[in-house]
Amino acid sequence: MSENRRSDFTIDTLNGLSSAPKYLSSKYLYDANGSRIFQNIMDMPEYYLTDAEYEIFQQQKEQILQELFARENSIDLIELGAGDGLKTKVLLSYFLNQKKAFKYIPIDISKKAIQELTASLREEFPHLEVEEQIGDYFKVISDLSKYDRNRKAILFLGSNIGNFNSEQARDFFSHLGDVMEQNDRLFIGFDLKKDPNIILRAYNDPHGHTRDFNINLLLRINQELNADFHLDRFIHYESYNPVTGTAKSYLVSTRDQTVTIKGLDKSFHFDEWEAIYIEMSQKYDDEMIQNIASDCGFHVINNFYDSRKYFVNSVWKKQQ
Ligand code: AVI
Repeated sequence: MSENRRSDFTIDTLNGLSSAPKYLSSKYLYDANGSRIFQNIMDMPEYYLTDAEYEIFQQQKEQILQELFARENSIDLIELGAGDGLKTKVLLSYFLNQKKAFKYIPIDISKKAIQELTASLREEFPHLEVEEQIGDYFKVISDLSKYDRNRKAILFLGSNIGNFNSEQARDFFSHLGDVMEQNDRLFIGFDLKKDPNIILRAYNDPHGHTRDFNINLLLRINQELNADFHLDRFIHYESYNPVTGTAKSYLVSTRDQTVTIKGLDKSFHFDEWEAIYIEMSQKYDDEMIQNIASDCGFHVINNFYDSRKYFVNSVWKKQQ
């Protein structure tokens, strides 16, 4: 972790725990241990999102190819926050088999994640042209446009958009629109509203992986900021509001307690049953997707659903 990033974590932790109500940013869930636990989450049957998007890619790769390439000879396939690329590999493998000309450009802020992904791609697909990019999504995309005239198909998968609130999601899409060309495509994974019990189980799983994922953030603060959180004095609590489609996770203090964070030179008091808000996972419906697309200057040109209609990959282009 760079000094810069460490200081972001320090400042954000200080701000979050000094607020009322308290919060911690979910972007810090993904240290090495958190990323490993997230892998466990994605592997469990209750977390239907991974399987649903995987099924869409497996079953509809031909139509997805048509949508992303259309009549272009060659495209740039750009993936934002690529992770381990497991699902994307289904598409990459198919596009290569179909002898399509494209360059795969994964962008991530984590150098380690990108290096691991690139190494595995080089091994699995020696003929794939990969141009990994580390850094800010928008800057990388606008820089690309300066020297590369290929159509861009930008992938933002796995319901990552769900971890943004409405304002952040709108800012994100509007900003993407600013750096996209008229002919480019955006391919986004949205988790859909469904039986609230199914959603709740995905985030309140019987294996305790989601609990461990959230508690790990306190462990990270202990380790990186020299704090003395007792991990067994907090419980994970999940809520889902079927009206708004918002799942929210919290860590709740089971007793009146004080935690000292030496790295911040500060102590924080927690009342009994006081909650720390950690993460939102927004679920969408077709109307919400249409609305956010048009509010941000896009047209929805196609939607790919899985067989249970749990998840959708929506294809957008910029409005004329
Ligand atoms: C990364 N993101 C889309 C996950 C989600 O479903 O919101 C993060 C997650 N948090 C708990 N479980 C999964």
